[in-house]
Amino acid sequence: MKLSKRVTEQPPYLFAEIDRARDRAIERGLDVVSMGIADPDLPPPDWMYELLAEEIRHPGYHRYPDYKGLPEFLSMVVQWMQERFGVADLDPRTDVITLLGGKEGVAHAAWALCDPGDIALIPEPAYPVYNTNCLYAGAEVHFMGLTRENDFLPDLGAVPEDVARRATVIYVNYPNNPTGASAPPEFYRDLLDFARKYDIAVLADNPYSEVYFDESKRPHSILEFAGAKDICLEFHSFSKMFNMTGWRIGWAAGNPRLVKALLTVKSNVDSGQFNAIQHAVARALSHPDRDAFLEGNRKRIKARRDYVASALNEMGIWHPNPKATLYFWCRLPEGHEDSIRFAGDLLQQEGFVIGPGVAYGPHGKEYFRLSLTTPDEDIREGLARLKRFLGK
Ligand SMILES: Cc1ncc(COP(=O)(O)O)c(C=O)c1O
Repeated sequence: MKLSKRVTEQPPYLFAEIDRARDRAIERGLDVVSMGIADPDLPPPDWMYELLAEEIRHPGYHRYPDYKGLPEFLSMVVQWMQERFGVADLDPRTDVITLLGGKEGVAHAAWALCDPGDIALIPEPAYPVYNTNCLYAGAEVHFMGLTRENDFLPDLGAVPEDVARRATVIYVNYPNNPTGASAPPEFYRDLLDFARKYDIAVLADNPYSEVYFDESKRPHSILEFAGAKDICLEFHSFSKMFNMTGWRIGWAAGNPRLVKALLTVKSNVDSGQFNAIQHAVARALSHPDRDAFLEGNRKRIKARRDYVASALNEMGIWHPNPKATLYFWCRLPEGHEDSIRFAGDLLQQEGFVIGPGVAYGPHGKEYFRLSLTTPDEDIREGLARLKRFLGK
């Protein structure tokens, strides 16, 4: 049987590989602790389950949902975007679409916007889904390196003129996975000027907007900035916001032509998210205990962030202490240059799983990623193992 080049010529999906390496180590009898994967251990609020239980028996919800989304869900999203980000000009009928999680949205957006011969501008290191799906769609990818020197923001001025002219999309993701970096308002303004100049659609991936640690620097939506709705589509997710990665629900909001393009692809691929889930999370967005949950969740993750920061500092490991996200982007300690080797040795010797930086792109070669989605005691144990591994 012949398999497509999409399958045979792509590198294996990073996170599945990390899972496999962990499972092999467990099979060999190693006691394994992992900070390698971003899947919250903390649960959704209790009342989220009650909302779903109430909705699940709704007559008619056993049938196919609407492709674009449940109107009640889309209206609540519009209300949330207004309340949280001050974005006031979204129309739930045309400017928002339900997603089966953010991953599905950023992947299918590439299919909706890229043809062979087009160029996609993609940050690197990055969530690998952008790159893979642009390649699936036949586009060429131009990587924009995120480095410590440029505060992990793409240098738009460094994109060659002929590349910018052929580009149809640019992906950005702040707060950022894997670097943990946040973007200031000036970055969004410059990005919009750049995209307008070259007529490029901006795909802003924003699943970490509610995982922040400094109230005075809450993450932005790109849609807050003047003219953004003319050229942007922004992706949001309940996965990290309410610790519900398994429920598979998110939304995209922005330019109505881009929403429609995504809907065209999606309606040929999936048949929407279960109405009971859409209705439950719509009610969660206006739940009286919503903010208490989000604040409590941030507080717990911030305590982990502070613990990890001081442990890394003690070991002399450089990291840009994250102001948001679930990630530490750590420079390999002196004497180590290869993140795959570092991660492999750490797993073999100490049973501690981390994300090798190069798996997110070549600029990650000298980094590794730690994820804060691990129980407190495992974080303590993992960092103790790292310390022992380094002989500190
Ligand atoms: C940058 C980024 N975008 C999108 C996603 C996808 O999240 P989900 O599909 O669970 O909404 C993730 C998950 O880790 C992510 O890190």
